[in-house]
Amino acid sequence: MSTAVGDLLGATGGGQVQRVLEAELATVRTRHPDRRPRILDVGGGSGAWAVPLAAGGCAVTVVDTSPNALAALQRRAREAGVGELVTAVQGDVDALTDVVPAESADLVLGHELLEVVDDAPGAVAAMSMAAVPGGAVSVLVTGRHAAMLGRVLAGRLAEARMVLADPEGRFGPADKLRRRLDAPALRALLEAVGLQVEVLQGDGVLDTWVPRAVRDGGPAAVRAVAELEALAAEVPALREIAVRLHALARRD
Ligand SMILES: C[S@@+](CC[C@H](N)C(=O)[O-])C[C@H]1O[C@@H](n2cnc3c(N)ncnc32)[C@H](O)[C@@H]1O
Repeated sequence: MSTAVGDLLGATGGGQVQRVLEAELATVRTRHPDRRPRILDVGGGSGAWAVPLAAGGCAVTVVDTSPNALAALQRRAREAGVGELVTAVQGDVDALTDVVPAESADLVLGHELLEVVDDAPGAVAAMSMAAVPGGAVSVLVTGRHAAMLGRVLAGRLAEARMVLADPEGRFGPADKLRRRLDAPALRALLEAVGLQVEVLQGDGVLDTWVPRAVRDGGPAAVRAVAELEALAAEVPALREIAVRLHALARRD
């Protein structure tokens, strides 16, 4: 029934994230061999994660505020032949229990969501409540320090200073993101609602720093970058300069 999710998520990048999700799904399948893993993807948008997960044999519910994104999701799911495994629900993470039963998902995703919502602690609490006891929450969020260093390299020093100094890691009113996090802030957000952080890693540690000419250098170069990325993701000091931070946290 299931294809390795890691094989299917290539388009989303984030090889390290795939590996962690793959391991979590393997655990769920062992615990519940009689049914599909149930995934809730909050702010899942047009299905960059949801559709490959469904193609990997999961039943995926996507909750998103955007009807356009949900329409694109349904189209994409149909084209991938997994329309019946993907449920699109228009809803807000602020009122998640209105649209999704509590304690109903083996794995809850909140990928690139916390940086766009008004109330990040509230969103984390809602995602945690939607997970079954013993279930997991996967959070992917824009890293503060990569954004700062990227601006330094581009010579945008005033913005870099604001990203570093602003409590939410924003570069001012024109910033489209509500916040950027570093690893301690992400851990604190998850632990504040009683979640146990099992994985806290960088995703795209090298994205910003490897010159394009090197990355475009053919399959050997792509492989070399991927191998370096896998090593770098595990180094705490380098994790902080990843474009995104990824955490997998477990509910009691
Ligand atoms: C940057 S996209 C991320 C999409 C997807 N998770 C991914 O990783 O590719 C953020 C998504 O969150 C949705 N969103 C924003 N605020 C939301 C909220 N309060 N509740 C639910 N979804 C929300 C947006 O409509 C958008 O589809």
